[in-house]
Amino acid sequence: MKILAIETSCDDTGIAILEVKKEGSEAKFKILGNKVSSQIDIHKEYGGVFPALAKREHIKNLPLVLEKVFKDAKIKIENLKKEIGAIAITTGPGLEPALWTGIVFAKEISQKYNIPIVPVNHMEGHIFSIFPKKGKTFKIDSDKKIFPALSLLVSGGHTELILMKNWFKYKKIGQTRDDAAGEAFDKVARMLGLPYPGGPEISRLANEERINLIPLLLTKEKAGKRFPNSKNPSSILPLASGGGTQIQLPRPMIYSKDYDFSFSGLKTAVLYLIRDLKEKNPNILNDIKVKQKIAREFEDAVIETLVHKTIKAIKEYKIKTLIVGGGVSANDYLQKIMLKKIKENKLKIKTYFPSKSLTGDNAIMIGIAGYFGYKNKKIVKNLNSIKAQGNLSL
Ligand code: KG4
Ligand code: ZN
Repeated sequence: MKILAIETSCDDTGIAILEVKKEGSEAKFKILGNKVSSQIDIHKEYGGVFPALAKREHIKNLPLVLEKVFKDAKIKIENLKKEIGAIAITTGPGLEPALWTGIVFAKEISQKYNIPIVPVNHMEGHIFSIFPKKGKTFKIDSDKKIFPALSLLVSGGHTELILMKNWFKYKKIGQTRDDAAGEAFDKVARMLGLPYPGGPEISRLANEERINLIPLLLTKEKAGKRFPNSKNPSSILPLASGGGTQIQLPRPMIYSKDYDFSFSGLKTAVLYLIRDLKEKNPNILNDIKVKQKIAREFEDAVIETLVHKTIKAIKEYKIKTLIVGGGVSANDYLQKIMLKKIKENKLKIKTYFPSKSLTGDNAIMIGIAGYFGYKNKKIVKNLNSIKAQGNLSL
């Protein structure tokens, strides 16, 4: 069977066609066609996604992306009924005007060619995004021994820890109380005058600062003597330039007893830091070294918090498999520190990150989740009942 998958929850118009080569829980898939049309250039000037524009762009892009994917998959539109067994469509969470464009598009195809629709939760898609690797075919690890599993889902709209006793058995054990991790990256990037999306930009600067720090780290002991109360002397080393300014940001809720997160206070701490630095020198942000230092301390704060809570949950729930998904899972430092801490804590678990091309929003992940939804009889009987649900939860 073949699945047509459509994703329009935010600023990416994604369409994919997957062929299920082997059915059942040990399903094997082949990607016949896949395209994501990004709207980044359009939203860039707003420093974030502008819903009305996202809607307009999805409406314009959907038929073009579909045509391209059909061509790649060698599917003729007149054979659609014969070729496609189900349409998987993201119904939430996300921006409702954007979600509706995909839903309306999917309904039109469904009605015209009499193909059933399976609604998909976008976050469930991010969980399944770990399976496709290099090449066009991939299979699902269906071994029951992988459970209990834990999913850390980190994107522009979400930061949550999901406990899974099995596929489709979700229990949210923690989430952000305010901003999502990706949202914080985007907002801090904006404060530093960096373009949207901010995650990759901050990460790049932070890495540059880590490289700058290598010679300084050699004098870490000296710094430890100067700041004897600091747990992490390297984080309060003076800026390589910028007037010897020291930068230290909070790790909000890192030691709270629950599995919740909070990134809004951290974002405000960066705002005040920049304000104070600018009072001393209005042009301070022209100094790339200052930006690098802020980016590194901010990235450290976010990643340390995410990793600390994830490791705590792995221990408490005796997790066998860790899945990390969502846009922020592209962050190299998150991957590095997560694997380092797993090793340091001697945790014998399997860890999955999506391949880089699937960390962001795409329709392949929606197609996989849609196939299992189809198998679990989640086909929609009445097309009018399909609604965009901006706050849909797992
Ligand atoms: O999953 P996604 O593509 O869209 C949503 O569903 O929100 O996630 C987008 C988010 C943005 O906030 C972006 O800044 C962030 O993922 N992101 C990153 C990185 N790449 C993308 N954050 C940190 N480091 C990265 N390398
Ligand atoms: Zn997403």
